[in-house]
Amino acid sequence: MTYFAFMTPTTWGIIGPGKIANKFAIALGMVEGASLGAIASRDAARGREFASRHGVAAVYDDYALLAADPGIDAIYVATPHGFHAEHGILCLRKGKAVLCEKPLALNAREVEEMIAAAREHHAFLMEAMWTRFVPLMRSIMELVASGRIGVVKYIRADFGFLAAFEPNGRLFNIRLGGGSLLDIGIYPLFLCVQLLGEPLTITAAGRLSPTGSDETCHAILGFAGGANAVVSSTLACQTSLSAEIAGTEGIIWVGTPWYKNDRYEWNRTGEPAQVVQVEPLVNGFEYQIREVMECRSKGLIESPSLPHSFSLMMARTMDTIREQLGVKYLADIL
Ligand SMILES: NC(=O)c1ccc[n+]([C@@H]2O[C@H](COP(=O)([O-])OP(=O)(O)OC[C@H]3O[C@@H](n4cnc5c(N)ncnc54)[C@H](OP(=O)(O)O)[C@@H]3O)[C@@H](O)[C@H]2O)c1
Repeated sequence: MTYFAFMTPTTWGIIGPGKIANKFAIALGMVEGASLGAIASRDAARGREFASRHGVAAVYDDYALLAADPGIDAIYVATPHGFHAEHGILCLRKGKAVLCEKPLALNAREVEEMIAAAREHHAFLMEAMWTRFVPLMRSIMELVASGRIGVVKYIRADFGFLAAFEPNGRLFNIRLGGGSLLDIGIYPLFLCVQLLGEPLTITAAGRLSPTGSDETCHAILGFAGGANAVVSSTLACQTSLSAEIAGTEGIIWVGTPWYKNDRYEWNRTGEPAQVVQVEPLVNGFEYQIREVMECRSKGLIESPSLPHSFSLMMARTMDTIREQLGVKYLADIL
C-alpha cells in the first residue's frame, strides 16, 4: 500500500541528535514525501557530525532557531524526557507539527500544558509511541476487537534489561526523567491501556536506584469489567520481553521482543495454536512518521489513533504508579 497519495510532503527537523534521533533520521529516508531539512544540537560539532552522516543542510546550535526556521514543517523532539515539555512547547508556539519522544512529558500537568499549546497554536502534537502503529499492534488490536479470544481478562507484559548504573545518564538521572517506568515500562503499560482503557485501580511496587529513580517497577492494574494487567519494567536484569493477552475464549502469546516482533501465536481455548506473521519491521519508526504526515495532510492537530487524551491517560497512570513507588521529579513539585 502506498501512502504517498494521502500525504503532504513534509520537511522535518530534529531537536537533540542523540541515539534515537539517528534511528529516526534513517526512518525518514523510508517515507515517501519526508525529508530531513535541519537539526539542532547544543553542541555545534555534534550537530555537524550528525548532519553530515544524514546529509542534512542546516545545522543550528540553538533549539529555538530550528523551531523558528520557516522551511521546517515538523519537528521530532528527541531530548531526554525531562525536556520534552519545554522543547515541544517551543516548537508548537512556532506552529510546527511536533512528534515528541515518549513519554510525552514527565507528568500529566506537563502533558496538559503541551496539549494547551497545540490547541492555542493549532499545531499538530503526537507522542512518538511508535509501537501503536507497527503491523503487530494493528493485527493484535484487530484480533482482540474481533472477539475471537472472547473478552480480555488478563494481560501481562514486561520490558527489562541490565543497564550499568550511571547517576548522570538519562536512565537514572532524576533531573533528566530517569527510571524504568517512563523509559521502558511505558511500552507494556501502553499495550494494556490500548486494549483495556484507563485503569480504575493501580497497585505498584518496586525498587529505587540511589538517585531516587525507579530501577524496577511492577504494577497491577484493574479495569472496568473485571480485567487485570500486570506490567513490569527493570534496569536490573534482562527479562523475557514477552506478552500474553488472555480472554474468556482464548489467548495471544507474543515472544521476545514482544513490542517489535513480526509474529505471534494465538489459540481459542482447547484448539491448536495459530501463528500470525505480519510485515517484518525494517526500522519501525516509518509507521508513526506516516501517521504524522497523514494527519498534517488532513489539517488535524492530533492523531485519531493516538489522541492527546490517550497520552494524558498514560501520564496520569504513570503519575499514580510513581507516587506509590516514591519517585518524584522536579516537575512534580513545581
Ligand atoms: N522510541 C524508542 O524506541 C526510544 C528509544 C530510546 C530512547 N527514546 C526516547 O528518546 C529520548 C532521547 O533518548 P536517547 O537515548 O536518544 O538519548 P541521548 O542519546 O542521550 O540523546 C539525547 C539528546 O538530547 C539532547 N539534550 C538536550 N538537553 C540535554 C541534557 N540536559 N542532557 C542530555 N542530553 C540533552 C542531546 O543533544 P545535544 O546536546 O546535541 O543538543 C542529546 O544528544 C528519550 O526521551 C527516550 O525516552 C525512545
